[in-house]
Amino acid sequence: MTPRPTTTHPLATAAALGGPLTEATPPDATVRMPDGFLWGAATAAYQIEGAAHVDGRTDSIWDAFARVPGAVVGGEDGEVACDHYHRYADDVALVAGLGLGTYRFSTSWSRVRPDGGPVNAKGIDFYSRLVDELLDHQILPWVTLYHWDLPQALEEHGGWSNRDTAYRFAEYAADVHDALGDRVGVWTTLNEPWCSSFLSYTAGAHAPGRRSREAGLAAAHHLMLGHGLATAELRRRAPGANLGITLNLTVADPVDPADERDRDAARRIDAQFNRVFLDPILRGAYPADLLTDLAEVGLDGVVDDVVHDGDLAVISTPIDTLGVNYYHGEAVSYREPERELHGSAPVTRPTSSPYPAADGVRVHPRPLPVTAQDWEVQPEGLTRVLTRVHEEYTSERGIALYVTENGAAYDDVVAEDGSVDDQDRLAFVDLHLRAIHDAITAGVDVRGYFAWSLLDNYEWAWGYSKRFGVVRVDYETQERTVKASGRWYADVARSNVIPPLPAASLAALDPTADTRG
Ligand code: FCB
Repeated sequence: MTPRPTTTHPLATAAALGGPLTEATPPDATVRMPDGFLWGAATAAYQIEGAAHVDGRTDSIWDAFARVPGAVVGGEDGEVACDHYHRYADDVALVAGLGLGTYRFSTSWSRVRPDGGPVNAKGIDFYSRLVDELLDHQILPWVTLYHWDLPQALEEHGGWSNRDTAYRFAEYAADVHDALGDRVGVWTTLNEPWCSSFLSYTAGAHAPGRRSREAGLAAAHHLMLGHGLATAELRRRAPGANLGITLNLTVADPVDPADERDRDAARRIDAQFNRVFLDPILRGAYPADLLTDLAEVGLDGVVDDVVHDGDLAVISTPIDTLGVNYYHGEAVSYREPERELHGSAPVTRPTSSPYPAADGVRVHPRPLPVTAQDWEVQPEGLTRVLTRVHEEYTSERGIALYVTENGAAYDDVVAEDGSVDDQDRLAFVDLHLRAIHDAITAGVDVRGYFAWSLLDNYEWAWGYSKRFGVVRVDYETQERTVKASGRWYADVARSNVIPPLPAASLAALDPTADTRG
Protein backbone atom coordinates (compact mmCIF):
# COMPACT_ATOMS: atom_id res chain seq x y z
CA MET A 1 0.00 0.00 0.00
CA THR A 2 1.29 3.46 -0.85
CA PRO A 3 1.37 5.54 2.31
CA ARG A 4 -0.59 8.76 2.20
CA PRO A 5 1.53 11.88 1.99
CA THR A 6 -0.09 13.27 5.11
CA THR A 7 1.54 16.68 4.82
CA THR A 8 -0.58 17.46 1.78
CA HIS A 9 -3.79 15.97 3.10
CA PRO A 10 -6.15 18.79 4.08
CA LEU A 11 -7.46 16.90 7.08
CA ALA A 12 -4.07 15.96 8.41
CA THR A 13 -2.50 19.36 8.82
CA ALA A 14 -3.53 20.27 12.35
CA ALA A 15 -0.73 18.38 14.02
CA ALA A 16 1.75 19.85 11.55
CA LEU A 17 0.48 23.32 12.46
CA GLY A 18 0.60 22.66 16.17
CA GLY A 19 -3.17 22.88 16.53
CA PRO A 20 -5.02 21.09 19.30
CA LEU A 21 -7.36 18.86 17.38
CA THR A 22 -10.03 16.37 18.04
CA GLU A 23 -9.99 13.32 15.84
CA ALA A 24 -11.03 14.58 12.41
CA THR A 25 -13.90 12.81 10.70
CA PRO A 26 -12.32 11.00 7.76
CA PRO A 27 -13.65 11.78 4.29
CA ASP A 28 -14.90 8.24 3.75
CA ALA A 29 -17.17 8.27 6.82
CA THR A 30 -20.90 8.94 6.67
CA VAL A 31 -21.75 11.87 8.91
CA ARG A 32 -25.16 12.81 10.27
CA MET A 33 -25.68 16.42 11.33
CA PRO A 34 -27.86 17.15 14.39
CA ASP A 35 -31.63 17.24 13.91
CA GLY A 36 -32.80 20.74 13.11
CA PHE A 37 -29.44 21.82 11.67
CA LEU A 38 -30.23 24.75 9.39
CA TRP A 39 -29.07 24.62 5.77
CA GLY A 40 -28.82 27.77 3.72
CA ALA A 41 -27.07 29.74 1.04
CA ALA A 42 -25.85 33.32 1.23
CA THR A 43 -25.56 36.30 -1.11
CA ALA A 44 -25.03 40.05 -0.77
CA ALA A 45 -26.93 42.91 -2.38
CA TYR A 46 -24.18 44.55 -4.41
CA GLN A 47 -22.80 41.22 -5.57
CA ILE A 48 -26.01 40.00 -7.20
CA GLU A 49 -28.76 42.60 -7.52
CA GLY A 50 -27.65 44.78 -10.42
CA ALA A 51 -30.23 47.51 -11.13
CA ALA A 52 -27.69 49.80 -9.54
CA HIS A 53 -29.43 52.95 -10.71
CA VAL A 54 -33.00 51.70 -11.01
CA ASP A 55 -36.06 52.75 -8.97
CA GLY A 56 -34.23 55.47 -7.10
CA ARG A 57 -31.07 53.63 -6.03
CA THR A 58 -27.98 55.84 -6.14
CA ASP A 59 -24.25 55.19 -5.84
CA SER A 60 -22.79 53.19 -3.04
CA ILE A 61 -19.07 53.26 -2.30
CA TRP A 62 -18.71 50.17 -4.48
CA ASP A 63 -20.24 51.87 -7.54
CA ALA A 64 -17.78 54.72 -7.06
CA PHE A 65 -14.79 52.48 -6.28
CA ALA A 66 -15.37 50.35 -9.38
CA ARG A 67 -14.85 53.51 -11.46
CA VAL A 68 -11.43 54.20 -9.95
CA PRO A 69 -8.81 53.12 -12.50
CA GLY A 70 -7.05 49.95 -11.43
CA ALA A 71 -9.19 49.34 -8.31
CA VAL A 72 -11.15 46.33 -9.60
CA VAL A 73 -9.98 43.61 -11.98
CA GLY A 74 -11.20 44.54 -15.46
CA GLY A 75 -12.84 47.71 -14.07
CA GLU A 76 -15.98 45.65 -13.55
CA ASP A 77 -18.93 46.86 -11.49
CA GLY A 78 -22.27 45.68 -10.08
CA GLU A 79 -24.43 47.65 -12.51
CA VAL A 80 -26.05 44.43 -13.82
CA ALA A 81 -24.39 41.63 -11.79
CA CYS A 82 -26.80 38.66 -11.67
CA ASP A 83 -29.81 40.91 -12.38
CA HIS A 84 -31.31 39.47 -9.22
CA TYR A 85 -33.36 42.65 -8.74
CA HIS A 86 -35.49 41.55 -11.69
CA ARG A 87 -35.06 37.79 -11.32
CA TYR A 88 -35.51 37.41 -7.57
CA ALA A 89 -38.58 35.17 -7.90
CA ASP A 90 -36.66 32.69 -10.08
CA ASP A 91 -33.73 32.82 -7.67
CA VAL A 92 -35.99 32.09 -4.70
CA ALA A 93 -37.39 29.16 -6.69
CA LEU A 94 -33.79 27.96 -7.10
CA VAL A 95 -33.25 28.09 -3.33
CA ALA A 96 -36.46 26.16 -2.87
CA GLY A 97 -35.38 23.66 -5.51
CA LEU A 98 -32.21 23.04 -3.53
CA GLY A 99 -34.39 22.24 -0.52
CA LEU A 100 -32.72 24.86 1.68
CA GLY A 101 -34.41 26.03 4.87
CA THR A 102 -32.96 29.54 4.86
CA TYR A 103 -31.57 32.21 2.57
CA ARG A 104 -29.17 34.90 3.80
CA PHE A 105 -29.25 38.13 1.81
CA SER A 106 -28.38 41.74 2.50
CA THR A 107 -30.36 44.92 2.03
CA SER A 108 -28.72 47.76 0.15
CA TRP A 109 -28.57 50.98 2.15
CA SER A 110 -28.31 52.90 -1.14
CA ARG A 111 -31.57 51.36 -2.34
CA VAL A 112 -33.44 51.84 0.91
CA ARG A 113 -32.14 55.33 1.67
CA PRO A 114 -30.44 56.64 -1.49
CA ASP A 115 -27.62 59.05 -0.64
CA GLY A 116 -28.36 58.28 3.00
CA GLY A 117 -31.48 60.46 2.67
CA PRO A 118 -35.17 59.66 3.18
CA VAL A 119 -36.60 56.17 2.69
CA ASN A 120 -37.19 55.19 -0.93
CA ALA A 121 -40.50 53.34 -1.08
CA LYS A 122 -39.59 51.49 -4.28
CA GLY A 123 -36.31 50.34 -2.79
CA ILE A 124 -37.76 48.97 0.39
CA ASP A 125 -40.62 47.40 -1.55
CA PHE A 126 -38.15 45.20 -3.41
CA TYR A 127 -37.05 43.60 -0.14
CA SER A 128 -40.63 43.27 0.99
CA ARG A 129 -41.47 41.31 -2.18
CA LEU A 130 -38.35 39.19 -1.76
CA VAL A 131 -39.31 38.32 1.82
CA ASP A 132 -42.85 37.41 0.76
CA GLU A 133 -41.49 35.21 -1.98
CA LEU A 134 -39.21 33.40 0.49
CA LEU A 135 -42.02 32.91 2.98
CA ASP A 136 -44.29 31.58 0.22
CA HIS A 137 -41.66 28.88 -0.29
CA GLN A 138 -41.25 28.23 3.47
CA ILE A 139 -37.72 29.62 3.39
CA LEU A 140 -36.52 31.53 6.46
CA PRO A 141 -35.35 35.03 5.47
CA TRP A 142 -32.00 35.83 7.17
CA VAL A 143 -31.37 39.54 6.71
CA THR A 144 -27.99 41.25 6.85
CA LEU A 145 -28.29 45.02 7.08
CA TYR A 146 -24.81 45.95 5.92
CA HIS A 147 -22.70 44.00 3.48
CA TRP A 148 -20.29 46.82 2.57
CA ASP A 149 -22.36 49.09 0.31
CA LEU A 150 -22.37 52.42 2.16
CA PRO A 151 -24.09 55.25 0.28
CA GLN A 152 -21.37 57.21 -1.48
CA ALA A 153 -22.93 60.45 -0.22
CA LEU A 154 -22.11 59.38 3.35
CA GLU A 155 -18.55 58.51 2.33
CA GLU A 156 -18.21 62.08 1.15
CA HIS A 157 -18.78 63.07 4.78
CA GLY A 158 -16.06 60.68 5.96
CA GLY A 159 -17.91 57.39 5.71
CA TRP A 160 -17.19 55.01 8.55
CA SER A 161 -14.32 57.16 9.76
CA ASN A 162 -17.02 59.67 10.77
CA ARG A 163 -18.80 58.80 14.03
CA ASP A 164 -22.07 60.14 12.65
CA THR A 165 -22.28 57.19 10.22
CA ALA A 166 -22.92 54.85 13.17
CA TYR A 167 -26.06 56.82 14.06
CA ARG A 168 -27.17 56.96 10.42
CA PHE A 169 -26.75 53.16 10.28
CA ALA A 170 -29.02 52.66 13.29
CA GLU A 171 -31.68 54.84 11.64
CA TYR A 172 -31.45 52.86 8.43
CA ALA A 173 -31.68 49.59 10.40
CA ALA A 174 -34.84 50.86 12.06
CA ASP A 175 -36.33 51.76 8.66
CA VAL A 176 -35.68 48.29 7.29
CA HIS A 177 -37.15 46.80 10.44
CA ASP A 178 -40.25 49.01 10.10
CA ALA A 179 -40.83 47.54 6.66
CA LEU A 180 -39.89 43.89 7.20
CA GLY A 181 -40.04 43.31 10.95
CA ASP A 182 -43.54 41.83 10.77
CA ARG A 183 -42.13 38.96 8.65
CA VAL A 184 -38.41 38.79 9.38
CA GLY A 185 -37.21 37.43 12.73
CA VAL A 186 -33.46 37.00 12.16
CA TRP A 187 -31.30 40.11 11.84
CA THR A 188 -27.57 40.43 11.27
CA THR A 189 -26.30 43.97 11.70
CA LEU A 190 -22.95 43.83 9.87
CA ASN A 191 -21.14 41.41 7.62
CA GLU A 192 -17.40 41.15 8.29
CA PRO A 193 -16.55 44.52 9.84
CA TRP A 194 -12.85 43.67 9.41
CA CYS A 195 -13.30 44.03 5.66
CA SER A 196 -15.40 47.19 5.83
CA SER A 197 -12.87 48.86 8.14
CA PHE A 198 -9.26 47.69 7.81
CA LEU A 199 -9.40 46.21 4.30
CA SER A 200 -11.31 49.25 3.06
CA TYR A 201 -9.87 52.22 4.98
CA THR A 202 -6.33 50.99 5.82
CA ALA A 203 -5.38 48.60 3.00
CA GLY A 204 -7.37 50.45 0.35
CA ALA A 205 -8.16 47.10 -1.29
CA HIS A 206 -11.93 47.50 -0.93
CA ALA A 207 -14.21 50.51 -1.26
CA PRO A 208 -13.73 53.33 -0.47
CA GLY A 209 -10.06 52.53 -1.06
CA ARG A 210 -8.51 54.73 1.60
CA ARG A 211 -5.05 53.91 2.95
CA SER A 212 -4.85 55.22 6.47
CA ARG A 213 -4.25 53.39 9.73
CA GLU A 214 -6.11 56.13 11.59
CA ALA A 215 -9.16 55.94 9.31
CA GLY A 216 -9.25 52.13 9.53
CA LEU A 217 -9.20 52.18 13.32
CA ALA A 218 -11.87 54.86 13.47
CA ALA A 219 -13.98 52.92 10.98
CA ALA A 220 -13.66 49.72 13.01
CA HIS A 221 -14.84 51.45 16.17
CA HIS A 222 -17.68 53.26 14.42
CA LEU A 223 -18.84 50.03 12.80
CA MET A 224 -18.88 48.49 16.29
CA LEU A 225 -20.85 51.45 17.59
CA GLY A 226 -23.31 51.20 14.70
CA HIS A 227 -23.73 47.51 15.43
CA GLY A 228 -24.48 48.21 19.10
CA LEU A 229 -26.88 51.08 18.39
CA ALA A 230 -28.77 49.05 15.77
CA THR A 231 -28.93 45.99 18.03
CA ALA A 232 -30.35 48.04 20.90
CA GLU A 233 -32.87 49.69 18.58
CA LEU A 234 -34.05 46.41 17.06
CA ARG A 235 -34.23 44.80 20.51
CA ARG A 236 -36.45 47.64 21.72
CA ARG A 237 -38.78 47.14 18.75
CA ALA A 238 -38.75 43.34 18.71
CA PRO A 239 -37.67 41.84 22.03
CA GLY A 240 -38.09 38.31 20.68
CA ALA A 241 -36.09 38.78 17.48
CA ASN A 242 -32.91 36.80 16.87
CA LEU A 243 -30.17 39.45 16.65
CA GLY A 244 -26.54 39.06 15.77
CA ILE A 245 -23.51 40.01 13.75
CA THR A 246 -21.30 38.09 11.30
CA LEU A 247 -17.51 38.17 11.74
CA ASN A 248 -14.91 36.68 9.44
CA LEU A 249 -12.51 34.84 11.69
CA THR A 250 -9.14 33.26 11.08
CA VAL A 251 -6.71 30.92 12.78
CA ALA A 252 -3.31 32.56 12.86
CA ASP A 253 -0.60 30.00 13.57
CA PRO A 254 3.07 30.77 14.22
CA VAL A 255 5.21 29.25 11.46
CA ASP A 256 7.48 27.91 14.21
CA PRO A 257 5.53 27.53 17.47
CA ALA A 258 8.85 27.34 19.36
CA ASP A 259 9.92 30.77 18.08
CA GLU A 260 8.80 33.64 20.31
CA ARG A 261 8.79 36.11 17.40
CA ASP A 262 6.56 33.85 15.33
CA ARG A 263 4.22 33.53 18.30
CA ASP A 264 4.15 37.33 18.58
CA ALA A 265 3.25 37.58 14.88
CA ALA A 266 0.37 35.14 15.36
CA ARG A 267 -0.84 36.96 18.47
CA ARG A 268 -0.91 40.28 16.59
CA ILE A 269 -2.89 38.89 13.67
CA ASP A 270 -5.32 37.22 16.08
CA ALA A 271 -5.74 40.54 17.92
CA GLN A 272 -6.12 42.69 14.80
CA PHE A 273 -8.36 40.30 12.90
CA ASN A 274 -10.41 38.36 15.47
CA ARG A 275 -10.28 39.84 18.95
CA VAL A 276 -10.58 43.48 17.86
CA PHE A 277 -14.25 42.64 17.21
CA LEU A 278 -14.95 39.62 19.42
CA ASP A 279 -13.83 41.38 22.59
CA PRO A 280 -15.81 44.63 22.40
CA ILE A 281 -18.96 42.82 21.27
CA LEU A 282 -18.81 39.93 23.72
CA ARG A 283 -16.68 41.27 26.60
CA GLY A 284 -17.28 45.00 26.41
CA ALA A 285 -13.59 45.94 26.11
CA TYR A 286 -10.85 46.12 23.52
CA PRO A 287 -8.04 43.61 24.14
CA ALA A 288 -5.23 45.00 26.32
CA ASP A 289 -2.47 43.61 24.11
CA LEU A 290 -4.05 45.23 21.04
CA LEU A 291 -4.09 48.61 22.79
CA THR A 292 -0.41 48.18 23.72
CA ASP A 293 0.51 47.32 20.13
CA LEU A 294 -1.40 50.35 18.86
CA ALA A 295 0.25 52.62 21.42
CA GLU A 296 3.68 51.39 20.34
CA VAL A 297 3.06 52.69 16.83
CA GLY A 298 1.60 55.96 18.10
CA LEU A 299 -2.07 55.14 17.49
CA ASP A 300 -3.20 55.46 21.10
CA GLY A 301 -4.33 59.01 20.44
CA VAL A 302 -6.73 57.77 17.75
CA VAL A 303 -8.16 55.23 20.17
CA ASP A 304 -8.62 57.93 22.81
CA ASP A 305 -10.33 60.22 20.32
CA VAL A 306 -12.77 57.76 18.82
CA VAL A 307 -13.75 55.65 21.84
CA HIS A 308 -16.13 57.75 23.92
CA ASP A 309 -17.38 57.00 27.43
CA GLY A 310 -20.30 54.61 27.24
CA ASP A 311 -19.51 53.28 23.74
CA LEU A 312 -18.41 49.86 24.91
CA ALA A 313 -21.63 49.36 26.88
CA VAL A 314 -23.57 50.05 23.67
CA ILE A 315 -21.31 47.80 21.58
CA SER A 316 -21.74 44.90 24.01
CA THR A 317 -25.54 45.00 23.88
CA PRO A 318 -26.44 41.29 24.15
CA ILE A 319 -26.86 39.31 20.95
CA ASP A 320 -28.44 35.91 20.32
CA THR A 321 -26.38 34.66 17.40
CA LEU A 322 -22.81 35.01 16.20
CA GLY A 323 -22.31 34.35 12.51
CA VAL A 324 -18.87 33.01 11.61
CA ASN A 325 -17.52 33.34 8.09
CA TYR A 326 -14.52 31.13 7.48
CA TYR A 327 -12.42 30.73 4.37
CA HIS A 328 -8.89 29.91 5.57
CA GLY A 329 -6.31 30.45 8.30
CA GLU A 330 -2.71 31.57 7.94
CA ALA A 331 0.78 30.72 9.16
CA VAL A 332 2.72 33.85 10.09
CA SER A 333 6.26 34.91 10.94
CA TYR A 334 8.53 37.95 10.71
CA ARG A 335 10.79 35.94 8.43
CA GLU A 336 10.55 36.22 4.67
CA PRO A 337 8.54 33.42 3.09
CA GLU A 338 10.22 31.38 0.39
CA ARG A 339 7.21 31.92 -1.81
CA GLU A 340 4.34 34.44 -1.68
CA LEU A 341 0.69 33.49 -1.55
CA HIS A 342 -1.25 35.75 -3.94
CA GLY A 343 -4.52 35.86 -2.07
CA SER A 344 -5.52 39.42 -3.01
CA ALA A 345 -7.05 40.57 -6.26
CA PRO A 346 -4.42 41.34 -8.92
CA VAL A 347 -5.25 45.04 -9.23
CA THR A 348 -2.94 47.79 -10.42
CA ARG A 349 -3.94 50.43 -7.87
CA PRO A 350 -1.53 50.27 -4.91
CA THR A 351 -2.69 48.81 -1.62
CA SER A 352 -1.18 48.69 1.88
CA SER A 353 -1.18 46.20 4.73
CA PRO A 354 -4.58 46.10 6.43
CA TYR A 355 -2.98 45.71 9.86
CA PRO A 356 -2.37 48.92 11.79
CA ALA A 357 0.30 47.41 14.08
CA ALA A 358 1.78 44.30 12.48
CA ASP A 359 4.57 45.71 10.33
CA GLY A 360 6.85 43.01 9.06
CA VAL A 361 4.47 40.11 9.70
CA ARG A 362 4.51 37.80 6.69
CA VAL A 363 2.21 34.98 5.64
CA HIS A 364 4.00 31.74 4.77
CA PRO A 365 2.53 29.19 2.39
CA ARG A 366 2.00 25.67 3.74
CA PRO A 367 1.74 22.29 2.07
CA LEU A 368 -1.99 22.72 1.61
CA PRO A 369 -4.12 22.78 -1.52
CA VAL A 370 -5.20 26.25 -2.64
CA THR A 371 -8.31 27.58 -4.37
CA ALA A 372 -8.33 29.67 -7.54
CA GLN A 373 -7.60 32.72 -5.37
CA ASP A 374 -4.52 31.13 -3.78
CA TRP A 375 -6.48 30.75 -0.54
CA GLU A 376 -5.25 27.72 1.39
CA VAL A 377 -7.76 24.95 1.99
CA GLN A 378 -7.68 24.40 5.73
CA PRO A 379 -10.87 22.80 7.02
CA GLU A 380 -9.48 21.91 10.45
CA GLY A 381 -9.06 25.65 11.04
CA LEU A 382 -12.84 25.92 11.08
CA THR A 383 -13.05 23.33 13.86
CA ARG A 384 -10.56 25.36 15.86
CA VAL A 385 -12.26 28.71 15.17
CA LEU A 386 -15.65 27.40 16.28
CA THR A 387 -14.28 25.61 19.34
CA ARG A 388 -12.30 28.63 20.43
CA VAL A 389 -15.17 31.07 20.01
CA HIS A 390 -17.54 28.75 21.86
CA GLU A 391 -15.15 28.19 24.75
CA GLU A 392 -13.81 31.71 25.12
CA TYR A 393 -16.80 33.84 24.18
CA THR A 394 -20.22 32.48 23.30
CA SER A 395 -21.04 29.42 25.37
CA GLU A 396 -21.22 31.20 28.73
CA ARG A 397 -23.44 33.87 27.16
CA GLY A 398 -25.83 31.37 25.59
CA ILE A 399 -25.03 32.62 22.07
CA ALA A 400 -25.57 30.22 19.17
CA LEU A 401 -23.05 29.90 16.34
CA TYR A 402 -23.91 29.65 12.66
CA VAL A 403 -21.40 29.39 9.85
CA THR A 404 -22.86 32.19 7.76
CA GLU A 405 -20.35 31.88 4.89
CA ASN A 406 -17.95 29.24 3.62
CA GLY A 407 -17.09 28.23 0.09
CA ALA A 408 -14.46 28.46 -2.59
CA ALA A 409 -13.61 29.89 -5.99
CA TYR A 410 -12.50 27.34 -8.57
CA ASP A 411 -12.11 27.72 -12.31
CA ASP A 412 -15.25 25.94 -13.42
CA VAL A 413 -15.25 24.02 -16.66
CA VAL A 414 -18.52 24.13 -18.56
CA ALA A 415 -19.27 20.94 -20.46
CA GLU A 416 -20.88 21.01 -23.89
CA ASP A 417 -24.29 20.36 -22.36
CA GLY A 418 -23.79 23.35 -20.04
CA SER A 419 -23.20 21.28 -16.90
CA VAL A 420 -20.42 22.03 -14.38
CA ASP A 421 -18.84 19.07 -12.62
CA ASP A 422 -17.15 21.03 -9.83
CA GLN A 423 -15.86 18.16 -7.70
CA ASP A 424 -13.27 20.55 -6.18
CA ARG A 425 -15.93 22.86 -4.73
CA LEU A 426 -17.99 19.87 -3.64
CA ALA A 427 -14.98 18.43 -1.77
CA PHE A 428 -14.20 21.82 -0.22
CA VAL A 429 -17.71 22.12 1.22
CA ASP A 430 -17.74 18.47 2.27
CA LEU A 431 -14.51 18.80 4.26
CA HIS A 432 -15.70 21.98 5.97
CA LEU A 433 -18.98 20.34 6.95
CA ARG A 434 -16.97 17.50 8.49
CA ALA A 435 -14.93 20.13 10.34
CA ILE A 436 -18.17 21.62 11.70
CA HIS A 437 -19.31 18.17 12.70
CA ASP A 438 -16.05 17.72 14.60
CA ALA A 439 -16.74 20.93 16.51
CA ILE A 440 -20.30 19.84 17.28
CA THR A 441 -19.00 16.49 18.52
CA ALA A 442 -16.65 18.41 20.82
CA GLY A 443 -19.70 20.19 22.29
CA VAL A 444 -19.77 23.40 20.26
CA ASP A 445 -23.23 24.88 19.65
CA VAL A 446 -23.21 25.27 15.85
CA ARG A 447 -26.73 25.36 14.45
CA GLY A 448 -26.45 25.95 10.74
CA TYR A 449 -24.37 26.42 7.60
CA PHE A 450 -24.70 28.79 4.66
CA ALA A 451 -22.88 28.00 1.46
CA TRP A 452 -21.15 31.01 -0.07
CA SER A 453 -22.59 31.47 -2.49
CA LEU A 454 -25.93 30.63 -4.01
CA LEU A 455 -24.84 32.18 -7.32
CA ASP A 456 -21.62 33.07 -9.07
CA ASN A 457 -21.43 36.81 -8.51
CA TYR A 458 -19.42 40.03 -8.34
CA GLU A 459 -16.44 39.10 -6.20
CA TRP A 460 -15.54 42.66 -5.15
CA ALA A 461 -12.05 43.69 -6.31
CA TRP A 462 -11.81 40.44 -8.31
CA GLY A 463 -14.80 41.52 -10.41
CA TYR A 464 -16.49 38.57 -12.12
CA SER A 465 -13.23 36.67 -12.52
CA LYS A 466 -13.83 34.34 -9.58
CA ARG A 467 -16.86 32.11 -9.19
CA PHE A 468 -18.13 30.91 -5.82
CA GLY A 469 -21.64 29.77 -6.73
CA VAL A 470 -23.16 26.35 -6.25
CA VAL A 471 -25.23 27.63 -9.16
CA ARG A 472 -23.49 28.88 -12.29
CA VAL A 473 -24.49 32.21 -13.79
CA ASP A 474 -23.90 32.84 -17.47
CA TYR A 475 -23.40 36.61 -17.39
CA GLU A 476 -24.27 36.96 -21.09
CA THR A 477 -27.68 35.29 -20.86
CA GLN A 478 -28.26 35.37 -17.07
CA GLU A 479 -29.01 31.68 -17.32
CA ARG A 480 -28.61 29.76 -14.04
CA THR A 481 -27.33 26.14 -13.95
CA VAL A 482 -27.07 24.15 -10.76
CA LYS A 483 -23.50 22.79 -10.51
CA ALA A 484 -22.61 19.29 -9.27
CA SER A 485 -21.78 20.90 -5.91
CA GLY A 486 -25.26 22.39 -5.80
CA ARG A 487 -26.98 19.08 -6.51
CA TRP A 488 -24.82 17.38 -3.89
CA TYR A 489 -25.51 20.17 -1.38
CA ALA A 490 -29.25 19.80 -1.95
CA ASP A 491 -29.01 16.08 -1.13
CA VAL A 492 -27.05 16.85 2.02
CA ALA A 493 -29.57 19.49 3.09
CA ARG A 494 -32.54 17.20 2.46
CA SER A 495 -31.07 14.17 4.21
CA ASN A 496 -29.00 15.94 6.90
CA VAL A 497 -26.33 13.39 6.02
CA ILE A 498 -22.89 13.89 4.49
CA PRO A 499 -22.17 10.79 2.44
CA PRO A 500 -18.66 9.36 2.05
CA LEU A 501 -16.56 11.64 -0.16
CA PRO A 502 -15.35 9.80 -3.24
CA ALA A 503 -11.57 9.69 -3.55
CA ALA A 504 -11.90 11.28 -6.99
CA SER A 505 -13.59 14.36 -5.48
CA LEU A 506 -10.86 14.70 -2.89
CA ALA A 507 -8.26 14.39 -5.62
CA ALA A 508 -9.97 17.20 -7.57
CA LEU A 509 -9.56 19.50 -4.61
CA ASP A 510 -5.97 18.56 -4.01
CA PRO A 511 -4.29 17.29 -7.14
CA THR A 512 -1.06 16.75 -5.20
CA ALA A 513 -2.57 14.34 -2.68
CA ASP A 514 -2.38 10.60 -3.07
CA THR A 515 -5.89 9.46 -2.26
CA ARG A 516 -5.42 5.79 -3.10
CA GLY A 517 -5.15 5.07 0.64
C1 FCB B 1 -16.43 37.24 2.13
C2 FCB B 1 -17.55 38.18 1.77
C3 FCB B 1 -18.40 37.72 0.63
C4 FCB B 1 -17.60 37.04 -0.45
C5 FCB B 1 -16.69 36.01 0.14
C6 FCB B 1 -15.87 35.26 -0.88
O1 FCB B 1 -15.40 37.92 2.76
O2 FCB B 1 -18.37 38.41 2.88
O3 FCB B 1 -19.13 38.81 0.16
O4 FCB B 1 -16.95 37.97 -1.21
O5 FCB B 1 -15.82 36.60 1.05
